[in-house]
Amino acid sequence: MNPLQSRLAARVAEAPVPAAEVMALALYDPDHGYYRRAEGPWGFDGKDYYTALDLGPLLGQTLALRLEAAWERLGRPARFTALEPGAGRGWLGRDLLNAVSGPFAEALVYVHRDDNPAAKMAAKTALAPFLAANRARLAAETEPLEPFLGCVFSNELFDALPAQPWRWDGTRWVREVLAAEGPEWQAAEPGAAGAWFTQHSDGLEPGDGSLWCEALPGLVHDLAAPLTAGLFLTIDYGESAARLLAKGADLRRFKAHTVDGKWHEDLGEADLTADVDFTRLAHLLEGQGLKELAHVELSKWIRTHAPLDEWGAGWMALPEAQRLKRMENLLQLTLPGQMGSRFRVLEGWKG
Ligand SMILES: C[S@@+](CC[C@H](N)C(=O)[O-])C[C@H]1O[C@@H](n2cnc3c(N)ncnc32)[C@H](O)[C@@H]1O
Repeated sequence: MNPLQSRLAARVAEAPVPAAEVMALALYDPDHGYYRRAEGPWGFDGKDYYTALDLGPLLGQTLALRLEAAWERLGRPARFTALEPGAGRGWLGRDLLNAVSGPFAEALVYVHRDDNPAAKMAAKTALAPFLAANRARLAAETEPLEPFLGCVFSNELFDALPAQPWRWDGTRWVREVLAAEGPEWQAAEPGAAGAWFTQHSDGLEPGDGSLWCEALPGLVHDLAAPLTAGLFLTIDYGESAARLLAKGADLRRFKAHTVDGKWHEDLGEADLTADVDFTRLAHLLEGQGLKELAHVELSKWIRTHAPLDEWGAGWMALPEAQRLKRMENLLQLTLPGQMGSRFRVLEGWKG
């Protein structure tokens, strides 16, 4: 039994532990948490999962165009800060910085914000030329954010925040806990979560349920408040509040490229994720002064914003291996059933 598992077993022997607390321990325990380990879990071979960034630079290239449009809309300021919380290995920042040119590139400063030690190490390598040229910097999560003009963007940040599964059993709300015999659903007072779920349902059916992320308002405030004007853009797994409720959203475990619901096993050695409630995220951003909030499937966002005609023509001139890689990158992000249909992109504007 690993150290987290034995610590949890001792707690569970005293009283059941809510699933959100198990997730917090599994991902963020300072010594053994999955996102506090020295070695990274990303990529294809022998790792737990890959993200859209492992597929190629197309996401970063499309993001670069959205950020440049935001810079234009702000009146081409001399400095445009792009803050990426949960930046992981810094690959999206790298792809973004590689894609920009001209006056926008001169204005852009990329800030990587993620305390994950393995990710930070990888980011130092990925961003090395940009760090040396003062076009990028690494910030600690505890570093206070000064007011800035520009953009906050993230990929798979909010799905990595501890979240509590709740279900409507027909007469009352129950929450998922780890008890001595294993996971079970126990009656509890849902407070703000219950009020939110009820408000976003057309009439609850037994089995309906969703996830409640307690830390979401605080993090949204910390990230959106310092943005004086500009774009907030988030890419993540998730759905609207109503759709999550109807599907009975639950926690997922990723291990060695397989997905299951065993959130209480292999603590600290497997990734846990929770679908993001995009309705709630948009509502909280609205409370921080963001406007024009909308979210769409990633595949649609790519089809809308990537200049595919232009790129397609350029790709035809590439050596075959490179051309095929670009095509595959595009298909993964746009075909039904592939990565682009599992993610959503939320955008909002401040100022
Ligand atoms: C699923 S990973 C995504 C990493 C990267 N964006 C990617 O797509 O490969 C989630 C990351 O969010 C980080 N994270 C969690 N909470 C955070 C917070 N409050 N501020 C900054 N980073 C955070 C974790 O350390 C982890 O590296």
